[in-house]
Amino acid sequence: MKRQIDWIPVLVQCRDSVQRQIAPLIGTLKQQQPDLGIGAGGDPIRQVDLAAEKAIVNTLESFGISFTLISEESGIEEYGGRPCECYVTTDPIDGTTNLLRGIPFSATSIAISTKQTLNTVFAALVADLNHEVVYTAQKGKGAFLNGKRITSSKLTTIDEAVIGLDLNTYRIQKIARQVTSLIENTKHIRPFGANALELCYVADGRTDAFVDLRGKLRTTDIAAAWLMLKEAGARMVLPSGKTLNAKLSPKQHVSFIAAGNPQIQEIILDLIRTKKEAK
Ligand code: IPD
Ligand code: CA
Repeated sequence: MKRQIDWIPVLVQCRDSVQRQIAPLIGTLKQQQPDLGIGAGGDPIRQVDLAAEKAIVNTLESFGISFTLISEESGIEEYGGRPCECYVTTDPIDGTTNLLRGIPFSATSIAISTKQTLNTVFAALVADLNHEVVYTAQKGKGAFLNGKRITSSKLTTIDEAVIGLDLNTYRIQKIARQVTSLIENTKHIRPFGANALELCYVADGRTDAFVDLRGKLRTTDIAAAWLMLKEAGARMVLPSGKTLNAKLSPKQHVSFIAAGNPQIQEIILDLIRTKKEAK
């Protein structure tokens, strides 16, 4: 029989360890970084990303947990020797560009699941690396910010909504019409640069929605936030409006709309559906 693990304290220890391990590197981030090759997710690996990943792995091993790691940096690896107890999907540092530039918006993201699929995530943590802001969630038990239960936005009109929008792409023309339609209908657009944390802002109602239509975000970035959204009463769907489920892998990319409530979700879906790029 599988043993019961009290996951939230374990995940919080992972976060504490990430903070400790990256602290000495923070002052060096503006300097030229050594070339460590390309990570499993396709981006250059930085020392700080590796230090964060190592901190997570070491902490889980210190609890004697056997797991399959699915990481944006190292890809998929087995740890712990015994049969795998769970999958650990992580983006050790989400918002690396912000961190390197000294912009205080980056996070560590860790999701625990029974299978290598998004819809089996049952425990999660997303921690802001610049502030004392720790989001946690467990399946069926709610989502929390620093231990206080959170719920998503109830705002149902688009004009006053605050909407996160990922515009981080060289191929903006592919989504230009959909994005323009959305921007034209609301006055508060917010691209912050760390999707895991931006999705948690939808979970706790700081923002009303978050939209990423680029088709380039990895499921390693959204795994933990997916549970946070679900447990806070928010929703995350494909641009078609269908339920989002996907393989957990640094090579699996998704587009999605996360919204605080069904009404705002439908408004956004209508805006982007009618504005697909002309053939
Ligand atoms: C990035 C951030 C960013 C998004 C990029 C991601 P990373 O994560 O989430 O907001 O636009 O597509 O790659 O690379 O800093 O882990
Ligand atoms: Ca990353």
